[in-house]
Amino acid sequence: MDAKNQTAKSAKLAVENEQWELAVRPGTIGPSVIDISRLYGDTGMFTYDPGFTSTASCESKITYIDGDEGILLYRGYPIEQLAEHGDFLETCYLLLYGELPTAAQKADFDHRVTRHTMVHEQMLRFFQGFRRDAHPMAVLVGCVGALSAFYHDSIDISDPHQRLVASIRMIAKMPTLAAMAYKYSIGQPFIYPKNELDYAANFLRMCFAVPTEEYKVNPVVARAMDRIFILHADHEQNASTSTVRLAGSSGANPFACIAAGIACLWGPAHGGANEAALKMLSEIGTPDRIPEFVKRAKDKNDPFRLMGFGHRVYKNYDPRAKIMQKTCHEVLSELGIKDDPLLDVAMELERVALQDDYFVEKKLYPNIDFYSGITLKAMGFPTSMFTVLFALARTVGWIAQWKEMIEDPHQKIGRPRQLYTGATRRDYVAISRRK
Ligand code: SDX
Repeated sequence: MDAKNQTAKSAKLAVENEQWELAVRPGTIGPSVIDISRLYGDTGMFTYDPGFTSTASCESKITYIDGDEGILLYRGYPIEQLAEHGDFLETCYLLLYGELPTAAQKADFDHRVTRHTMVHEQMLRFFQGFRRDAHPMAVLVGCVGALSAFYHDSIDISDPHQRLVASIRMIAKMPTLAAMAYKYSIGQPFIYPKNELDYAANFLRMCFAVPTEEYKVNPVVARAMDRIFILHADHEQNASTSTVRLAGSSGANPFACIAAGIACLWGPAHGGANEAALKMLSEIGTPDRIPEFVKRAKDKNDPFRLMGFGHRVYKNYDPRAKIMQKTCHEVLSELGIKDDPLLDVAMELERVALQDDYFVEKKLYPNIDFYSGITLKAMGFPTSMFTVLFALARTVGWIAQWKEMIEDPHQKIGRPRQLYTGATRRDYVAISRRK
């Protein structure tokens, strides 16, 4: 980051013969901001930044990303250390409350989440309304939005206790709903959560156990699942988090806000990229076909992009991708998957792309979605479940960011403006007189 701008106290804006002074606010780390909140009132002009490539939408203390250095911190702690030493519910506590829990706080938090993992029994009937071949993300969007129809005692966002209960319920019930969406799609009976299991092991059992026999959770796979949840937990003001914040700014209940975030995450440019990346690797099929696809990815006239590559913020390696790659190898080795053709294609594609001028100049590196699909497929999940798992993990990030926004005393409804380039005022013409 260019240091010269980090000490400025103000910025000057000159338009023709007028000049305005704008306050500059520094962050604890990372880019400062030029406060333009009074710009329209003072100048009668808007700023213009489609895609928000240069816009800070809020002040936050939760997650910090340095795209040039490939750094990701949750409440100041490097993702590498949290993934190595902690577990997902510890990360949930950290994201929600800002500090790592003591042993007593962790035990209490684990206990509270565990005791909210069941869903209202009538939710089971809600599932029956879907076709069996419905995409699990469609089912998840519907069911999470419907939670506000079942839990009336935790939708008053002005009540801190109800906000806490809704937060715990969302974190606790997402694995259960995600597993139910999977079971429903394959026509198997739902498996209830088991309180003696930890978060990731409980989820794996709800997905892969059947009533006819005991299911033994593989501890290596469960640890990998838990680490994948940690990697996906939060990521600053990405598209789905911004969606949750915007929905929450109107006062909508937390379940509806999370449903909006799930809907946004579904897109292939965002959380749908892990499903799209695996489909791309399958379409490439063998390493010898990689040059053909790399050529297409570089062709401006071809909409094809290398899924799992590139990032709005990371112009260096996504730190999560490195941990994801290591986890991928651990899971494949534990499951005795020696020569996964998709992994061969992925490793060769990464090698080729990282040497190709186009990708080097545009700073396109593998992102978290590049290796997650191979890992999840090895665990036994169908590609249609990949974004569901991303949503499961990101729920705590959405909730933490929603909570931070609701508790911000300066919070107001989000309402962007526009550059209007449509028709000027004109009078109605009767249909008989239209040409
Ligand atoms: C996630 O925001 C987050 O934090 C998201 C996320 C999170 O945790 O929440 O990290 C999760 O969504 C990761 C990203 C997953 N998406 C994909 O892997 C899909 C493939 N990637 C691209 O669609 C793209 O890289 C984006 C959407 C991720 C980022 O797009 P940007 O920042 O808007 O960049 P861009 O589209 O303007 O691309 C810049 C240039 C363009 O070329 P030029 O027009 O400048 O000539 O790079 C090219 C693009 O054509 N480019 C690619 C490419 N990604 C960008 N070319 C080929 N393959 C790609 N993957």
